[in-house]
Amino acid sequence: MAELDRYLVEQRERFEDELCELLRIASVSTDGQHAAEIRQAGEWVAAQLRGLGLATELIDTSGNPVVYAQSAPVAGAPVVLVYGHYDVQPPDPLGEWISPPFEPTRRNGNLYARGATDDKGQMLTHIKSAEAWIRTVGRLPVQLKFLIEGEEEVGSRGVTDLIGQEAERLACDVVVISDSCQFGPGQPAITYGLKGLAYFELRLTGPRQDLHSGTFGGAVTNPANGLTRMLASLINDVGRVQVPGFYDDVVPLSDRERQQFASLPFDESVFMQRLGVQGLAGEQGYTTLERRWARPTFDINGIWGGYQGAGSKTVLPARAGAKFSFRLVPDQDPDKIRRALREHLEPLCPPGIQMELIDMHGARGIVVPLDSPFMQAAATAIEQGFGRPPVFIREGGSIPIVNVFHELLGVDTLLLGWGQDDDNTHSPNEKFSLADFHRGIRTSAHLWHALGKIEVEQRA
Ligand code: BES
Ligand code: ZN
Repeated sequence: MAELDRYLVEQRERFEDELCELLRIASVSTDGQHAAEIRQAGEWVAAQLRGLGLATELIDTSGNPVVYAQSAPVAGAPVVLVYGHYDVQPPDPLGEWISPPFEPTRRNGNLYARGATDDKGQMLTHIKSAEAWIRTVGRLPVQLKFLIEGEEEVGSRGVTDLIGQEAERLACDVVVISDSCQFGPGQPAITYGLKGLAYFELRLTGPRQDLHSGTFGGAVTNPANGLTRMLASLINDVGRVQVPGFYDDVVPLSDRERQQFASLPFDESVFMQRLGVQGLAGEQGYTTLERRWARPTFDINGIWGGYQGAGSKTVLPARAGAKFSFRLVPDQDPDKIRRALREHLEPLCPPGIQMELIDMHGARGIVVPLDSPFMQAAATAIEQGFGRPPVFIREGGSIPIVNVFHELLGVDTLLLGWGQDDDNTHSPNEKFSLADFHRGIRTSAHLWHALGKIEVEQRA
């Protein structure tokens, strides 16, 4: 591994420059306005993999193109599927960026750009580690199958279809994803649990058009009043979701897991300071880490209705609405929650208002087994790459494709996050630590080695 580590040190600057190239492509998947950049980013990733001599395709799907590439089989060694995404979230609000979102800029050891950590920078670490093996040793110690998609941020539809159709070609022993965080600066982690999601939009329509709130208020139901009452009914003041049956299937936290969370060096005051908040709240009876990682939650993601401009306008709006979501934990079923939510909300819709409840994303939460030889290999590689053994954590974010890999390919995923939770993912001034970028590449190179030593049965 010495020659390999040397190669990684020598190539640092070029790796950073290449990441910058990818970050300059505004591959926003949210609204279909960036189809050209989406394809361009897919092509950029495909060219990288093709350049390593891997059999590479840019596959058109029902959604955005998916990059697929594979290296040669290695007898007796595991087949490892690397998943990542080249699409990014929209950069708005633009005015809050210190440097423009698609002009990657180095500042204080970080690279600032939309997608720096989520997920272009993290994804690229695995391509660069493969490059290092191929350019120094001349081959990889495991067979790698890269599956890099372009619509993770909007639900992964195309790639999910593709996994169903191509299950045989994608057959593997384990999946590796770097699209999450470390526990903190200097403390790498392996994530063994993610939350699921049930996402909705609620639209309320009242009178034909906006009305004078003096002339008509008190007689005509105000959709914005109705909306706030309906939303307020979803959670009580000790943080418990009020949809009937919501907690029925929740797997409770075990005493062991609670102790393990409590043993992590988490400082609540530092956490509050970093976020600029003076207090924390959530479901009563649980610690902050328990709420963030292992308890289901409810959040309004957007809300609108009525006058938003300067000054006051006495208006009774004709329409109001909100986007909101529940983060789920094992074994909650998003379909069951959808049905229960509809049954709960319909009777609460006030007279004179029409409601439309739109189902958006749904995914189950997951917990992956900690006792596999693959986990062990990942822990070893992290210790080599970061100089410190990982802690085992759960996360509140969702990567719904992890369920798809489990259901359609029958394999578990190693969630090896190189990011930090203050990387500003989905928000202005997204960043990725350049030191963590290089540590991630080094860890990945060591991971292929450690995984290569695990014996697996030959595939038919
Ligand atoms: N990388 C995140 C998921 C994530 C965030 C994992 C933090 C662990 C910690 C991913 O790109 C993402 O944002 N996923 C969405 C999924 C949704 C659109 C279905 C999310 O969690 O909101
Ligand atoms: Zn994301």
